[in-house]
Amino acid sequence: MARILITSAIPYINGIKHLGNLVGSQLPADLYARYMRARGHEVLFLCATDEHGTPAELAAAKAGKPVADYCAEMWAVQDELGKGFRLSFDHFGRSSSPRNHRLTQHFAGRLADANLIREVSEKQVYSVADGRFLPDRYIEGTCPNCGYDKARGDQCENCTKQLDPTDLIEPRSAISGSTDLEVRETKHLYLRQSEMRDQLRDWIDSKTDWPVLTTSIARKWLDDGDGLQDRGITRDLDWGIPVRRGTEGWPGMEGKVFYVWFDAPIEYIACAAEWVDAGKGPAPDPGADKDSVWERWWRTDKGADDVRYVQFMGKDNVPFHTLSFPATILGSGEPWKLVDYIKSFNYLNYDGGQFSTSQGRGVFMDQALDILPSDYWRWWLLSHVPETSDSEFTWDGFQQDVNKDLADVLGNFVSRITKFCRSKFGEIVPEGGAYGPKETALIADLQTRLDRYQGHMDAIEIRKAAAELRAIWVAGNEYLQSAAPWTAFKEDPDRAAAITRFALNLIPFYAALSEPFIPDAAQQMADAMGTDLIWPETVERALSRLAPGHAFTVPDVLFAKIADEDREAWAARFAGTRG
Ligand code: MF3
Ligand code: ZN
Repeated sequence: MARILITSAIPYINGIKHLGNLVGSQLPADLYARYMRARGHEVLFLCATDEHGTPAELAAAKAGKPVADYCAEMWAVQDELGKGFRLSFDHFGRSSSPRNHRLTQHFAGRLADANLIREVSEKQVYSVADGRFLPDRYIEGTCPNCGYDKARGDQCENCTKQLDPTDLIEPRSAISGSTDLEVRETKHLYLRQSEMRDQLRDWIDSKTDWPVLTTSIARKWLDDGDGLQDRGITRDLDWGIPVRRGTEGWPGMEGKVFYVWFDAPIEYIACAAEWVDAGKGPAPDPGADKDSVWERWWRTDKGADDVRYVQFMGKDNVPFHTLSFPATILGSGEPWKLVDYIKSFNYLNYDGGQFSTSQGRGVFMDQALDILPSDYWRWWLLSHVPETSDSEFTWDGFQQDVNKDLADVLGNFVSRITKFCRSKFGEIVPEGGAYGPKETALIADLQTRLDRYQGHMDAIEIRKAAAELRAIWVAGNEYLQSAAPWTAFKEDPDRAAAITRFALNLIPFYAALSEPFIPDAAQQMADAMGTDLIWPETVERALSRLAPGHAFTVPDVLFAKIADEDREAWAARFAGTRG
C-alpha cells in the first residue's frame, strides 16, 4: 500500500467555475483520488479556494460586500458545488486561512535568511483615470512574445509566458481601458529564483516520466533566459497576507501583502494542516502532537519521504508549479516534499469558442447541476478531457456520447439483465447450469482489458482509461446479446440461468471499475445488487461474487436519454452570456 498526496490547482474565489475549469484540474484529480483509494492506497486529496489578490477585491466591491465576507460566502458556494460534483476532497481549504498566513510568512522568512529575497525600488503603474495602482493582471496590452493583444500584465494566456506589466506593448487599464497610465516609485520584495536555475533544471531533468505538456512548458521557461527572472512577491493591496519575515515585522513593507501567486501554492501545505485542525485526520501517534499528522504528508524528515505527490492543473498553471513554487520549497532549505508528478491539461472550448468567466460564456458548475446529475457531466468531461490537445464541448456531441455510452450501453445492460432475471427467476441470482466457452472467452477478454484499464489509470492516461472502460461495458452488452438468455430459456432453462448469473455478476464488477468516473451510478448499481464496491483482484474471482440465491433489486433507470428538445433548449439557453 502506497501513500499518495493529490492536489488540484486551487480555483480563484471570484465566481463560480465553468466546466472548462472543472475538467482542467479538480475533476481529473478526483478521478485519480477515487481510483487510488479503490486500489487500497492511502490517499490525501486536497483543494482550496485561492482568495487573495485584486480579482477577489474587485468582485467583492462589485457585490457590495466586505471582501472577507464575500470570500467566506463564495467559499461556501464552491464547497457546495464541489460536493454536487462528488469531488472527494479530504479537505477543501482556504488560502486566507490562519495556517496559510503563518506558513507563507514562515517561507518568506526562510527565503530571506537564505538571502534569496531582495528589496527592489520599483516603478509601478498608476492609473490616473481609475485613481489607483493597477495590479499586474489589471493591465492589458500586446504580448511581446507572441503578439496576442489581450495579454495581461502577469501572464499571456495565449503563449503562457509570465510577464511583467512593463513588458506589455501599448498597455491599458483593464478596468477603464484608459491609457493614461503613470509610473510611480514604490518598494517591493523579489524572490531571487534565478539563483536556483541550476537546481531547478537538475530537478526537472530528473523527471523523465512527466507528461510532455508539463516538461515542455517548464523547459521553455527554464531555457528562455528570462523565464526564471526574479519575481516580485509583494503587492500594494489591503486583502492578502501581510508581509512579515517569519513572525517578525518587515521594516519598509508595512501595508503590503504577499502576491497571490506566492501564497496560493503554499496553501497546498496549509490545507493539510487545516484538515487536521478541522478534526478530519487520524489521531496522532501516542506521544506525538497533532501537527505530526499532516507533517507526515509534507515533511520528508517526518515520514513524507515515501509519499508520492501528484498535482493536477491547467497548462497556464505549469510555470508556477514547475519553477516558482519549487523555488520557494527548495529555497527554504527545509525538507518539504516536492511534487513527484505533474499532470497538466490543455483547454476545453465551448461550442466554437472559449469558455469565459468574464463574459459568462459556456456552462457553469451550478447551471450544469441544475439540468443533469453530476455523473453525466463527469463521464463526458473525463472521457473528453483535453489531455493531448484542446477539446471542445458541443451539445450535439454531449447528447450523442451520453446517450450512447451511459444509456444505450451501460444503463441498458443493467436494466435488461436485472429485468429479465426478475421476470424468469425472481430477484434472486439463479442457480443451475454451467459456464461454457462464451463465458471463458469473455473472462479472458475482460482480464486483458482490466489490466489495460488499470495501466492507463495508474499512468493517468484518462482518455485511454475512459475508452477502455467503455469497451469493458460494450463487451458485456455484446455478450448478453449473443448469449441471449431469453432465447436459451425456451430450450434450456439451466443454461439461461447460468448466463443470467454470469451477466448479473458483471454489474458489481462494472460498478467498482466505473466508480472513479460515475460514483453515483456505481453506488446505485452496487446497492441494487446488495454488494459493496470492491475492486476486482481478478476478473474470474470478481465474476463469481454473487452466488446463487443472492438477492438483488432491479435498480431505477440509471441514465435517462437526453431528448432532442432538451438539447435544443439547453443549447439556446447557454448560447448567450450568463444572465
Ligand atoms: N487560482 C489559480 C487558477 O485558477 C490556480 C492556483 S494553483 C496554486 O489558475 F498553486 F496556486 F495553488
Ligand atoms: Zn504571448
